[in-house]
Amino acid sequence: MQRIIQISDTHLGAEPGPIRPGYPDSDDQLARVLAALRREQARPDLLWLTGDLAETPDPRAYDRLLQLLQAHVEDWPVGGLAGNHDDWALLRDALSDAGHTLDGHQVLGEWLLIGVNSAQPGQAAGQISQAELERLDQLLSAHPGHWAVIAIHHPVVPVGSAWMDRIGLQNGTELFAVLDRHPRVRACLFGHIHQDFRAQRGGIELLGCPSTCVQFTPGSQDFAVDRIHAGYRVIELHPDGTITSQVERVPGALPAESWA
Ligand SMILES: [Fe+2]
Repeated sequence: MQRIIQISDTHLGAEPGPIRPGYPDSDDQLARVLAALRREQARPDLLWLTGDLAETPDPRAYDRLLQLLQAHVEDWPVGGLAGNHDDWALLRDALSDAGHTLDGHQVLGEWLLIGVNSAQPGQAAGQISQAELERLDQLLSAHPGHWAVIAIHHPVVPVGSAWMDRIGLQNGTELFAVLDRHPRVRACLFGHIHQDFRAQRGGIELLGCPSTCVQFTPGSQDFAVDRIHAGYRVIELHPDGTITSQVERVPGALPAESWA
């Protein structure tokens, strides 16, 4: 069995500290989640960071991200994705300097893992480029005997929050046109929504992840911050193509009451 741990939407500022008044400190929150991972989890086959790693793209935010990873989970394999808040090239440089990949793919046992970029410069909503869709299709075609899991920053289906669904993935139909050609795709992991989410589409599990910093209220019409704790997702990939997954919460600081 292969084990993946997903963390998402760390939203580190250019400087440490809250990114908005009343928010907890993004750096402290991430440190708390990484310390909990070290304490509670065995070393996974991959720690997947599914985007919005910086609040505003600044090399200092990515430096501190890598320092925190180094301090807490130094020997864990890391893969990254950019979110709408990130600068793809800055993040790629920071990760590759530390020996990690952005939008990478790898085979782990019976499983193929593929990171897909959905971030577009200057846009909150996501869009997968034609080149990226072709890369995904080619990778899946090249591994017809492997089960597959993909990770992407933006939610690939509406999640039932009107404001969030306006800034979700704009070409989900094109993504599923690719995935539907490959019956061994088993799961799609994403961030962006700052909440636990689970749905099924055909044989594919759709799994959303909490933020390490601040959570959004499920089912809300307008932007709403939820006063529940940060978390991470554990995904177990079994050799027969089945998946077990759950979200674990990490007690920490909550946003001020005025946000709720
Ligand atoms: Fe985010």
